[in-house]
Amino acid sequence: MEELLLLDKLRRQYDQTPYPKVAIESVHDRDSLWLHSFTTPYYRRHRRLPPSGAPLRILDAGCGSGYTSLALAQANPGAQLVCLDLSAASLAVACERLAFHGFTDVEFHDLPLEQVGELGEDFDLINCDEVLYLLPDPGVGLAALAGVLAPDGILRANLHSAYARAAVFRAQRVFQMMGLTNGTPGEAEMELVRSTMDALNNSTHLKIDTWVPTIHLHDDLEWYQLNYLLAGDKGYTVPEVFALLAGANLEFISMVLWPTWDVRCLFRDPNRLPPLFAERLADKSPLERLHLYELIHSPHRLIDFWCTHAAQQPAATQPPALEHNLRLHLHPQLRTDSLRGRLEQALGEGKPFELQQHIRFPFGEPLPNAQMAGCLLPLGWADGTGALRAPLA
Ligand SMILES: C[S@@+](CC[C@H](N)C(=O)[O-])C[C@H]1O[C@@H](n2cnc3c(N)ncnc32)[C@H](O)[C@@H]1O
Repeated sequence: MEELLLLDKLRRQYDQTPYPKVAIESVHDRDSLWLHSFTTPYYRRHRRLPPSGAPLRILDAGCGSGYTSLALAQANPGAQLVCLDLSAASLAVACERLAFHGFTDVEFHDLPLEQVGELGEDFDLINCDEVLYLLPDPGVGLAALAGVLAPDGILRANLHSAYARAAVFRAQRVFQMMGLTNGTPGEAEMELVRSTMDALNNSTHLKIDTWVPTIHLHDDLEWYQLNYLLAGDKGYTVPEVFALLAGANLEFISMVLWPTWDVRCLFRDPNRLPPLFAERLADKSPLERLHLYELIHSPHRLIDFWCTHAAQQPAATQPPALEHNLRLHLHPQLRTDSLRGRLEQALGEGKPFELQQHIRFPFGEPLPNAQMAGCLLPLGWADGTGALRAPLA
């Protein structure tokens, strides 16, 4: 009963304000699409490119106003996209958005994701972004999504971090106790939160942690609805997320922004950790390393991850060894004429080519000189296959 009430509350909230509130005409920068390309998690899992052939089937579960669905369509040309949400108003915006950008062959379903099995199909890539933490039981949602994940399919999902969002949860509790989340919060509730937070003593922890650093958002209704006034919001730790995955027979592949979860980078010199710490760290599992990270530092609002069906075989951890007949590939997001042009220009001018300026990615060493960058040139642009046969010399 309580679950139905929560579902109804969420439906009303997202019918009133489909999320995100982004103009229909907005497109994603090409250099941020690596995150939504099936190639990225598939390579993280298998250390090889996904097989080509049948079109990719993608589900955007809890698609909201379809801005991420658009990224999925842009990042995976030719894919068959299915969008699902429990808010009809959000689906209408998503439909308008995708049509506006020329993606007309998209299915839309007004359905709670817990019932996704009713679609009777499975998917190679499932995106469930900013949704699971809203469900009364995310384990039920994960199990439903696992049920429609193709055997080699990949699910990207996320949950709120209990540590990073602790102060927001306290604020939500305050405004729940004040009765602001009994109905669908709108302008009046926003005004009550604003005046309360404004009036609080500047030295109160709640104000310092949630209000002062967010001054630029104080007029934005969507921001209040997603933070102070969000119904059903919950936080999780890394071990809790891994337990949820195990309960749905899913296996963690990687954090989406994996380089930003490296516990060694929390030290002044990542290459010179205290010896005992370094020794003990070497024995830790991925779960433990990520948990250590969040215990020491918690900048990530989301525990945002890729996972797949629990495997009988251990996943590949290293790229294949460099040997004859190895095929090197350029990531599809880099295979653009403009990147090629800029690379040729850098080569012509004998300047270093900094790859990370062309792909918005939270890490990446600059390629140190133009000669090394030149190795990229034979990859992908000429014949569209994106492949180069080793040996390189
Ligand atoms: C914060 S929005 C995220 C939208 C989109 N995924 C994004 O990140 O841009 C959450 C969305 O999940 C939808 N939602 C919440 N619970 C759901 C459920 N049980 N089944 C399907 N959709 C749900 C809401 O209607 C809303 O559109």
